[in-house]
Amino acid sequence: MQSGKPSQTALAAALHRAAHQVLEQGGIFDDPLALRILGMDAPAVARRAEENPSGRRMRLFIAVRTRFAEDALAAAFEGGVRQVVVLGAGLDTYAYRNPFGDRMRLFEVDHPATQAWKHQLLRDAAIPLPSSLTFVPVDFERETLAERLAASAFDRTQQTFFTWLGVVPYLNEEAVWSTLAFIAGLPNGAHVVFDYSDPPASLSPEMRASHERRAQRVAGLGEAWVTYFEAEKLHAKLVDLGIAEIEDLGPAQIVSRYFPGRAGSLPDKGGHVLRATTTSRHAG
Ligand SMILES: C[S@@+](CC[C@H](N)C(=O)[O-])C[C@H]1O[C@@H](n2cnc3c(N)ncnc32)[C@H](O)[C@@H]1O
Repeated sequence: MQSGKPSQTALAAALHRAAHQVLEQGGIFDDPLALRILGMDAPAVARRAEENPSGRRMRLFIAVRTRFAEDALAAAFEGGVRQVVVLGAGLDTYAYRNPFGDRMRLFEVDHPATQAWKHQLLRDAAIPLPSSLTFVPVDFERETLAERLAASAFDRTQQTFFTWLGVVPYLNEEAVWSTLAFIAGLPNGAHVVFDYSDPPASLSPEMRASHERRAQRVAGLGEAWVTYFEAEKLHAKLVDLGIAEIEDLGPAQIVSRYFPGRAGSLPDKGGHVLRATTTSRHAG
């Protein structure tokens, strides 16, 4: 990220969620606050999206990853989870429309510059801050999540759900694994949902060319993609960390789950969204 500046890719992701509400009527992911947090109306959002028609694939991927995470979170709530940490929250609005109210304790963790900007946007949009929400500023590249959460009201003895959307590609591998090790080490079990991409060299020529264009754009914003994973190696390392259950949707599984009527051949490499669950250290 550019020093002292809020994340430009957080703005881009929020614009994609807003455009999804307008162009696909929130068909995959319905977010009644997506436009309001940006202070934009539907025609302005549609105009911006139409200026960049190649953004459609990314827009739908962002809608899918957020829907997948929130569905998994709802299932975890049914299973007794009462604490959520939104890692690299950007302009994510879950905390402001959390259907579980005070029964769910929420923490938004993000870079301090992004968080300060979000505070301002929330004030401008008159979106109230719920009493169940705590902001935790962290620079993942310089500080550990463990230290910063320990200094907050986070309860490490509670089973916790982490969402970590649109962040892993921007961090170095060391920062990714230190965060995953922290999550896997929590004593009473945890869930984490994050997205990642297959290495560019494994993409089809057409996907690779479009990937390179987007990679250049985000690098130009000072937020380069630096980390990619091959699914099998990633899964093996997650298992080594003690992760008991992994659900990983690659491009083909995403299409069959969320776009079942889509015709044509499916790419087998590209963006993934993954849920990993650890069990309680006291279980079994
Ligand atoms: C692409 S945005 C995703 C935001 C949000 N999760 C979403 O899906 O809209 C990337 C997020 O990662 C955060 N981020 C990037 N590098 C970071 C770092 N070193 N420390 C803390 N947060 C970081 C940015 O502040 C931003 O909120």
